[in-house]
Amino acid sequence: MSRELRDARSLHSGREDRVDGAPSRAWWRDAVGYEVYIRSFADGNYDGVGDLVGLRDRLEHLAWLGVDLVWITPFYPSPMADHGYDVSDYCDVDPAFGTLDDFDSVVLEAHRLGLRVMVDIVPNHTSDQHPWFVDARRHRRSQHRDWYVWRDPGADGGPPNNWVSSFGGPAWTLDAGTGQYYMHLFLPEQPDLNWNERAVAEAFAQIIGFWLDRGVDGFRIDVAHSLVEDQAFPDNPTIGPVAPEMTPRQAFRCFEHLYDLDQPGVTDIYRRWRQLADQHGAVLLGEVYLHEAQRVSRYVEPDALHAAFYFKAMSMPWGAAGVRAMLAAGVESGSGRFAWVQASHDERRSVTRFGGGAEGRERALVLSTLYAGLPGMMFLYQGEELALADGVVPPDRLTDPVGTRNVNPAGSRDGARTPMPWADVDGFGFTAPGVEPWLPFGGRGAADTVSVQRRDPASWLYRYRSLIAARRSLPPTEGTVEWLVDDPDRLVAYRRGGLSVSANVSDEALDLPPLDGTWSVHFATDPACTLRRLPPRSALLALRSP
Ligand code: GLC
Repeated sequence: MSRELRDARSLHSGREDRVDGAPSRAWWRDAVGYEVYIRSFADGNYDGVGDLVGLRDRLEHLAWLGVDLVWITPFYPSPMADHGYDVSDYCDVDPAFGTLDDFDSVVLEAHRLGLRVMVDIVPNHTSDQHPWFVDARRHRRSQHRDWYVWRDPGADGGPPNNWVSSFGGPAWTLDAGTGQYYMHLFLPEQPDLNWNERAVAEAFAQIIGFWLDRGVDGFRIDVAHSLVEDQAFPDNPTIGPVAPEMTPRQAFRCFEHLYDLDQPGVTDIYRRWRQLADQHGAVLLGEVYLHEAQRVSRYVEPDALHAAFYFKAMSMPWGAAGVRAMLAAGVESGSGRFAWVQASHDERRSVTRFGGGAEGRERALVLSTLYAGLPGMMFLYQGEELALADGVVPPDRLTDPVGTRNVNPAGSRDGARTPMPWADVDGFGFTAPGVEPWLPFGGRGAADTVSVQRRDPASWLYRYRSLIAARRSLPPTEGTVEWLVDDPDRLVAYRRGGLSVSANVSDEALDLPPLDGTWSVHFATDPACTLRRLPPRSALLALRSP
């Protein structure tokens, strides 16, 4: 990547890292990222599935929105049991999404627009159709056998222990041909790799090198906390009984995950990746799906990952105490290395979680405004800038195995994955008119679309764009975050140097405590916000005059 690009997008943190021996801003530290769920972003060849050409042709939207970094979910060859998170070749593109040349054209166009590109790397498991696993299950002594996790059946002939899959059912499947069980923390079609096998580490170092050489600026690391298991494979302690009608997530919570996740040694894996990434000025961002901030912080030690997603907002009920506690824990434990996020392709959209309707939309923007003044990266999930709620997917159109393979379909992630509404036309500008998209649009209307919102300066799209611009133009600040505790049931507020951020999370108007000195409004979620009064569910960023 050119030094010009780095400098052009350098941010306000003021800190410097060394890249290639030369001082350079750590561009990623306060970057605004944007998740592209590739199947649903934009369909370039009109087959109903989003793809790389579609993405390339819509990058202008992201540049206009003002984000720094685009994370693209997996586009590698895959049987698609988990829509691409079951990879059968880490160094190519699935024909459904295009070709390697198309990928190169995405990187080229993104860099031309000043955007950085992050790819998703899936090191915990492969597809069962990956040549490594096809070989591993051929024979107990095959070359790749130890690349996966095999155990003999338990004493009763059943699974070796009580571990459960995040997607429902046991975490073990019997391979009849070789008489042993293999482990899978996700689908049976996603066998876990054995990271104690050195050849696995070698293979991934090469994969990372392959994408760095193609010009990527970073990696989002799928389930970064799950790569290592306790080698004695003990049962996890049980918290409560599992019932058949539970969603996989509910069943997963019936156990204390002492031995299958978040094991010592997992960050050792990332040290080598870190050296590779640092040579290219690239960033490693982990999907560390642990809600306790302190546990997440272990992944961002100086020579491990650069940054980790902080997902606490995903499980947080709306309310001042919960929002404040979530933010404060993330600030304290994250040391600026947590990526703030409130939506993804794996969760119900935050607008829906926070109550839906106008209220849900306002709350989601309030939370983003609180994020915007904090140290650390901040991510939007596609459609968040339009304030989209979940799409409605009828039961016979569900495709997510979390929904379709379990008695209770409520865990399905399809509602968060419906295609992007670009324009108020048949096919919503996502695909051609008359083409059936892979998931229904889910009840979108004209007001949800990019084209309609782009014509209205009061739209959600413009508000998110102004928020991103406001964040980008914050003066350099190294100030620590100080929480203000006036009106603790309604107000969430902090100071950071000459920045003051106030959010009224309640449903009534709120008078603000006076600020010392002279301040001006830098961004407000609602035109009725003033330095002295916030309407219900609104927030503002204010700057102290020098
Ligand atoms: C991550 C992905 C999710 C996927 C799972 C298994 O959590 O975000 O979509 O299903 O890993 O790869």
